[in-house]
Amino acid sequence: MGPPDAILGVTEAFKKDTNPNKINLGVGAYRDDNGKPYVLPCVKKAESQLASKNLDKEYSPISGTTELCKLSIQLALGNDSEVIQNSLNATVQTISGTGALRVGAAFLKAFYPFSKTVYIPTPSWGNHTPIFKHSGMEVKSYRFYDSNTCGFDFKGACEDIQNLPEKSIILLHACAHNPTGVDPNSEQWAELSNLIKRKNLFPFFDMAYQGFASGYIDKDAYAVRLFLKEGHEIALAQSYAKNMGLYGERVGAFSVTTSNKEESERVLSQIKILIRAMYSNPPINGARIVSEILSDQKLRADWLVEVKGMADRIISVRTQLRDNLKKEGSVRNWQHITDQIGMFCYTGMNADQVGKLMKDYSVYLTKDGRISMAGVTSKNVEYLAHAIHQVTK
Ligand SMILES: Cc1ncc(COP(=O)(O)O)c(C=O)c1O
Repeated sequence: MGPPDAILGVTEAFKKDTNPNKINLGVGAYRDDNGKPYVLPCVKKAESQLASKNLDKEYSPISGTTELCKLSIQLALGNDSEVIQNSLNATVQTISGTGALRVGAAFLKAFYPFSKTVYIPTPSWGNHTPIFKHSGMEVKSYRFYDSNTCGFDFKGACEDIQNLPEKSIILLHACAHNPTGVDPNSEQWAELSNLIKRKNLFPFFDMAYQGFASGYIDKDAYAVRLFLKEGHEIALAQSYAKNMGLYGERVGAFSVTTSNKEESERVLSQIKILIRAMYSNPPINGARIVSEILSDQKLRADWLVEVKGMADRIISVRTQLRDNLKKEGSVRNWQHITDQIGMFCYTGMNADQVGKLMKDYSVYLTKDGRISMAGVTSKNVEYLAHAIHQVTK
């Protein structure tokens, strides 16, 4: 019998609890201010537009639809990207962000000649290690989070990166680092870019939250675009799970940038061979929804407002949680709650405190003290602040 998934286990325990005040802060999916899943209105409109087109259900090409690939790389790199203008990207549609990482890992394992080790931040999204190991890569880490400040350990990260073997692969969270919500600032990204260049490392960006972090798609793509401007060649995983709320549709993209068009074509041909053996070709429905939204000016404009609405709600409950902790009389420094960004907040609570929160207050979260801000609402934030204060005072 294999062990249950750590995060899904939290939801199981939550479901069994009969306390009417119970809160689930384990899930990594957006909830509205009533705690309910949210289907974006632009998605509903796209679906009804698609329904009226009476499309067939034929297979997609191995690399997904050309339109989805084009729109995805444009979303990531911006309309004025020289990489796109010069056809320096090989992009395929993938089974959401996880699939993009898995295809990327398979490609690097087979074709990156210099290293079979990927360095991920400590901590990182819990699925990074299994995904890369499953592809036969070795996984090692570099320092990222400073538990004293609940912030970015810039010095530690630079020291570790400085000591990596030349030409290693380094995984970077493009924005809204999961699980910590801690991102480098723009000066730190610039220094990281220089350092990574000096060491000839190959950056693999995981961008699962574009637009969802700050509310602005260009701002959240800052690091990726900076690295390209600075002359890096990169790998990039994209997901539409969070920013379009298309979790179960499983739509994303994987790209590699190259130094010339012919190389892009060769890279694409090899990625297609890998995909053909893994799952043949990607599903069509989610790709159609995303393409409809991104290519229809009106729907795209609606989406930009709606994704900002989700980001703003998260930013607002961060402030509410911090204010309520103060009201409760907590003297701890909770500034990191509002400094951190994106879906998650790394509270700094230890496993004991988390255990008490679950047992005494029916507040469910992962043992590392990570809370999904999406599970916090204007209705439960007072109760949550009270519970957190009781276990941390
Ligand atoms: C950092 C990170 N990468 C990738 C993913 C992939 O998610 P999905 O496969 O649902 O797109 C997630 C989802 O939680 C994530 O947090």
